[in-house]
Amino acid sequence: MTGWVAIGLSAAALEAAGPPAGEVEGRYLVVGQADAGLFAIEDMCSHAACRFSTDGEIDGGVAICNCHGSEFDLFTGEVLAPPAREAIRVFQVNESSGEVKVRL
Ligand code: FES
Repeated sequence: MTGWVAIGLSAAALEAAGPPAGEVEGRYLVVGQADAGLFAIEDMCSHAACRFSTDGEIDGGVAICNCHGSEFDLFTGEVLAPPAREAIRVFQVNESSGEVKVRL
């Protein structure tokens, strides 16, 4: 299924609680509020499939995988630091009527 899917949280709740990870329509995502805005990334490093939710962290606009140190732009998915060579998947995200929605 594709389209905009509500995750059941507001942007304010995301900011207060930190980025949650979970399954949305069969995809594992990390969704959060960074200084530059809302982000949604697939919860899987492109290097060797570690999960950001358990083996990583978000620092500013960067997703860091602590398994081997790869870094990715939260908004474009591009690799900022190796050993990963492929971008991670990022998803459009917005808030309307107080609900954060991700486009799958
Ligand atoms: S699995 Fe993420 S850097 Fe290796």
